[in-house]
Amino acid sequence: MKNIQQLQAYKSENKKITMVTCYDYWSAKILSQSPVDCLLVGDSVSMVVHGFESTVHATIEMMATHTAAVYRAKTNKLIVADLPFLSHRRGKTALMDNVDLLMKAGAGAVKLETAPGQESKAGYIVDSGIPVIGHVGLTPQFVHQFGGYKVQGKTEEAKNKILKQSIDLEKSGCSALVLECVPNDLAKQITNTLSIPTIGIGAGIHVDGQVLVLQDLLGFNSDFKPRFVREFAHGHKWMDEALKQFTSSVEDKSFPSSQESFQ
Ligand code: KIV
Repeated sequence: MKNIQQLQAYKSENKKITMVTCYDYWSAKILSQSPVDCLLVGDSVSMVVHGFESTVHATIEMMATHTAAVYRAKTNKLIVADLPFLSHRRGKTALMDNVDLLMKAGAGAVKLETAPGQESKAGYIVDSGIPVIGHVGLTPQFVHQFGGYKVQGKTEEAKNKILKQSIDLEKSGCSALVLECVPNDLAKQITNTLSIPTIGIGAGIHVDGQVLVLQDLLGFNSDFKPRFVREFAHGHKWMDEALKQFTSSVEDKSFPSSQESFQ
């Protein structure tokens, strides 16, 4: 399995990190054959797979179940699992119980969304020998406080706050940082300031790597297309076409053929 140290080395080698979300066994098997570096069992699973309105609905049981499914694919990729909403807000014991569940489910690192000033939570996990990836900018677990999915760090004051938060997360021992929906210049400044890698989503080109939701990059999410998503395939169309062919083949009795049946 790839480890966080290998991904950290990319920064000095000027090699970009690629991370995609992965929530299940079958896509983990396919992704294991791909050149992608890292699988993120993101709390976006609550929206993409379970149909909830936000990541606030992800639970530790949901995250551990999906992490274990990905792990069962015996992937050679680093598995990063998200700590869900409020999981670091109920005391250190509850936090470490949650981390324990994700690590035992097969994660090689955990990702944590914190507000400025909460960096010690990341440090506490790191001190237990667990790699932590921080997440700053548009942290979706804070959507109700942000008043929607809006670009963060637009004013000088907001920029400085996110920069300081990023520096503090590095100081607390984080191995990498996800930068979500921040202006290019801020992402560049953070990337140049930190020695740990930055992985962007909606953060422009001046970062050390990129992350996207698998279903978005494959074009399966036709009713959700934010500016930062590029569809590298037309998954929705392709699935539609395959299902039409299946239906018509059943209807005209060309499926199953004699070779597809037991004599
Ligand atoms: O849960 C998720 O998918 C994420 C990515 C958007 C970075 O946190």
